[in-house]
Amino acid sequence: MRKNIVAGNWKMNNDLADTKTLVSELVDIEKTSNAEVMIAPTFTNLLEASKALKNSEIEVVAQNMHFAKNGAYTGEISATMLKSVGVNTVILGHSERREYFNEDDALLKQKVDTALENGMRIIFCFGEKLEDRKSGNHTHVVKSQIKNALFHLPEGSWKSIVLAYEPVWAIGTGETATPAQAQEMHLFIRNLALEAYNLSVADDVSILYGGSVKPENAKEIFSNSDVDGGLIGGAALNAESFMAIVNAF
Ligand code: PGA
Repeated sequence: MRKNIVAGNWKMNNDLADTKTLVSELVDIEKTSNAEVMIAPTFTNLLEASKALKNSEIEVVAQNMHFAKNGAYTGEISATMLKSVGVNTVILGHSERREYFNEDDALLKQKVDTALENGMRIIFCFGEKLEDRKSGNHTHVVKSQIKNALFHLPEGSWKSIVLAYEPVWAIGTGETATPAQAQEMHLFIRNLALEAYNLSVADDVSILYGGSVKPENAKEIFSNSDVDGGLIGGAALNAESFMAIVNAF
């Protein structure tokens, strides 16, 4: 049975003091839903956040990771480094990584393999740009992003994969996919998993929606049968709005 998940992607926001404050505000708000909750602070604050949330229901996850085990990769962070500070889940393939840091499917495939070799769980992001949506190419784009980075995996690895559909035109823009657009794409994605694997992989994989999810629209988006949660950017930077989204389930 797939899980409902709400993950907050803090991106390049919040220094150490802000992180401590936001984490303490989050634990003070009652969680009334069954959703798994994750937050992704920046690398420098992962240790502090995972210490502070050790006995809570909130999991601390990373926003990125390098594919190599270790070595001469100045400025990069490895899977074992993340694990050593209590982080067992990593976001890979976010559209900002694809767009500004030239991360392509081949690189992401390597990162996926490394994360899995290290026993980590992955939130794998993908989504079409506005021009793809306008030209009717959106399903084709999404299919190739998923296929190229994930469909080489054996069935057993899928228990460690969470998918996050994030249409690029909806990220940070205030524009959200309509519930119908989200449901249509999520069903398409689940059917891809069904074709490539089988019913149990397709049924069990959580597919999150990301792109301007707010307390005001979360319930409607999450009410779709194939939407199993959200990856939240801007609205995750405020404890009350993030927990309102968590509690929208
Ligand atoms: P947003 O970001 O909620 O600010 O649109 C979502 C994301 O990038 O994961």
